Amino acid sequence: MKKVSVTAPGKLMLMGEHAVVYGYPCIVTAVNQCLKVTISENKDERIEIVAPQVKDTRFVEASIKYFEEKLDIKVTGICVTTDSTFSGIFGFGSSSAVTVAMLKALSVYFERDVSNDELFLLAYKVVLAVQGVGSGFDVAAAVYGGTFVYDKDQGRIRDLTDASKGMQLVVGYSGVKANTVKIVQEVAKQKEVEHEKITQIFSEIKQLVDAGEKCICASDWQALGALFSKNQYLLVQLSVSTQKLDAMVATATHAGAYGAKLSGAGGGDCMIALTGAEHVLTVAKAIEKVGGEIVQAKTNCPGVRVETTDDQKELFIIVDKDDKILEYRSRYDCHHDKSLMHRSVSLLVFHTDGRVLLQKRSMTKDTHPGYWTTAVGGHVTKGETYDQAIVRETREELGIGVIPVKHSVFSYAYPIETEMECMYTAVYDGPFHPSAEEIERVEFFTKKQLEDALKHGHMQLTELALYELRKVKFL
Ligand code: MEV
Repeated sequence: MKKVSVTAPGKLMLMGEHAVVYGYPCIVTAVNQCLKVTISENKDERIEIVAPQVKDTRFVEASIKYFEEKLDIKVTGICVTTDSTFSGIFGFGSSSAVTVAMLKALSVYFERDVSNDELFLLAYKVVLAVQGVGSGFDVAAAVYGGTFVYDKDQGRIRDLTDASKGMQLVVGYSGVKANTVKIVQEVAKQKEVEHEKITQIFSEIKQLVDAGEKCICASDWQALGALFSKNQYLLVQLSVSTQKLDAMVATATHAGAYGAKLSGAGGGDCMIALTGAEHVLTVAKAIEKVGGEIVQAKTNCPGVRVETTDDQKELFIIVDKDDKILEYRSRYDCHHDKSLMHRSVSLLVFHTDGRVLLQKRSMTKDTHPGYWTTAVGGHVTKGETYDQAIVRETREELGIGVIPVKHSVFSYAYPIETEMECMYTAVYDGPFHPSAEEIERVEFFTKKQLEDALKHGHMQLTELALYELRKVKFL
């Protein structure tokens, strides 16, 4: 059964809330409180939505509508489920996270190429259509992840992910769920009445944001903390803080934090305290003492991603150019470092009538999701020989027990990884029992069918499959 799961992170506003709605920059970080959307095939043409964690299903529904319009496609026969590691009440941005995850899941499920920048623009449109207001910073956090400077009109303008690595935050929930839309509208009204005063506050906030970016780049957390406190003072002037938030901010600073402020719209939700590692516990305890709830949230987390079914810790065999074993490294390392040449196997299966069998990789594979490739392909794991690996992979992927014939061993460099490939061939007419987790489907192709599909762009074939099919002179 076709199934795609996508996870998108929540966010915390570090500096610049409210001003960002009016075109000033802000600094935002993605947190490890995530929302997951799974799309699977429904038994009939209906769209079924099971979304217990999101406030309402309008964001999921609007995502479908905008996706259909943008990509000129009719979405039918899917079941959408959501799952979340955070409660919607903290103000971590569950609506934007669900929108981003939903749109990404749709693009993967229906095999449409949507870049992160396109995803951001589309998701922001959906969020604006549903809730009417918002700068889109939360949408950007869900798409790109990390920490960055954001501008409503230009999107993510400067990435601060690397620079933010040493930043230590304590996050406290005030116990009150804020209504962001209402507060943003109240600030808008205030701006109409006291235009000069509010504009002045916004431009001071901008100066703090600019200075904050410099502090992050210099890892000057103490100075950044002081800017947090100044930002809080301006938010109090804007009348968006509450007594409870004020108390949490004050106690955090007394307990040794470099500085603290509310995070987000205000009126409730969360506050953040910037601390040195030695004060984390004292600050957390102080916040609890005035009635705050500590929320475990890691900052600077990755953006939207398709969940993979591959075990990233599995150990692969690293070899030199003569195929001599050097060491063992994880699947993750091998797929993120091209210098780690690792042993792999592949199998070309031919029908007795000469057609070649290809498999369409599942969308949850960590490399080449949705591509067509050789009938079997896999890695040799620690302790295995090439021959053992191909027999295991063939059984796991196609559910058959053929005896493959070794063809050749050669090194092959992909854009993201380098393999020492042992290629095998076999003649087998079926039946096959493909692994539902790894393979979407398998199909025999004549030379002509394959050439036509490639010529008209009807299939994406992995470079390795193309190389091997040429090697055996099928193409
Ligand atoms: C809310 O989390 C932050 C605001 O600046 C609104 C927004 O940017 O969409 C108040």
